[in-house]
Amino acid sequence: MTRDIMIVGAGGWGREVAWTLERINAYGGPAPTWNILGVADDDPAKGKGKGSMEGYPYLGTPEEASHDYPGAKVIIAIGDNAVREKIYRRLRGHDFPAIIDPSAVVAPTVDLRHGVYVGALAVISVGCNIGKFVIVNTRAGVGHDCTVDDFAQLCPGATMSGHSFLGAHGYMATNSCLVPNVKVGAHAQIAAGTPVFADVREGETLSPFGTLKA
Ligand SMILES: CC(C)(COP(=O)(O)OP(=O)(O)OC[C@H]1O[C@@H](n2cnc3c(N)ncnc32)[C@H](O)[C@@H]1OP(=O)(O)O)[C@@H](O)C(=O)NCCC(=O)NCCS
Repeated sequence: MTRDIMIVGAGGWGREVAWTLERINAYGGPAPTWNILGVADDDPAKGKGKGSMEGYPYLGTPEEASHDYPGAKVIIAIGDNAVREKIYRRLRGHDFPAIIDPSAVVAPTVDLRHGVYVGALAVISVGCNIGKFVIVNTRAGVGHDCTVDDFAQLCPGATMSGHSFLGAHGYMATNSCLVPNVKVGAHAQIAAGTPVFADVREGETLSPFGTLKA
């Protein structure tokens, strides 16, 4: 059955999410899985111009789109963890499906909450808990028995080893990695390319050369 969906966020991430929805349609059954209604954004200008989501109808602000399409599913395509949560609170009452690229591999024992996005070639192994509105971007890897808490994010190529933990709103930048059993606190950021060998405090930003912000 084909279902209506709207994308909230007309930036670069919105374009990637639209691409994933098109890929799901291309690789699914005989009928498309998703009918992409268009894109909602607080900034009407963002939906226009080169490299924008011009190919998709602009539906107005998230509230306007929500009013016009009350039964539509919603995917929040906003990379900033805090803004993603704010938009979710503005659109409560809608259904936020998990969107998983057809090339991603997610073990059947994974507990995956609503609003999650899993990108191309990402792998989530057995026994993981993936909280609501988590982003597991392209080529990211989540080892066995990991927990990724609500609104956290793994950027492309970021890797969590077995039994590691990423707290709510945590951020693992591109190609950062956690050794097994490490715990990253809520709102902490791991800078691009950083290997993490010990627990990271809540709100800390860690680079390969040490703490950037505590
Ligand atoms: C974690 C991160 C977001 C923190 O950003 P921030 O708090 O704004 O910190 P800044 O980028 O201003 O960096 C502060 C300093 O640390 C340095 N630094 C930042 N990240 C670094 C890294 N991965 N390796 C080495 N040095 C780094 C910066 O060069 C800067 O040095 P300076 O003060 O001498 O200019 C950022 O470091 C990062 O990794 N960005 C990449 C994000 C990413 O992967 N995006 C993909 C999205 S899909």
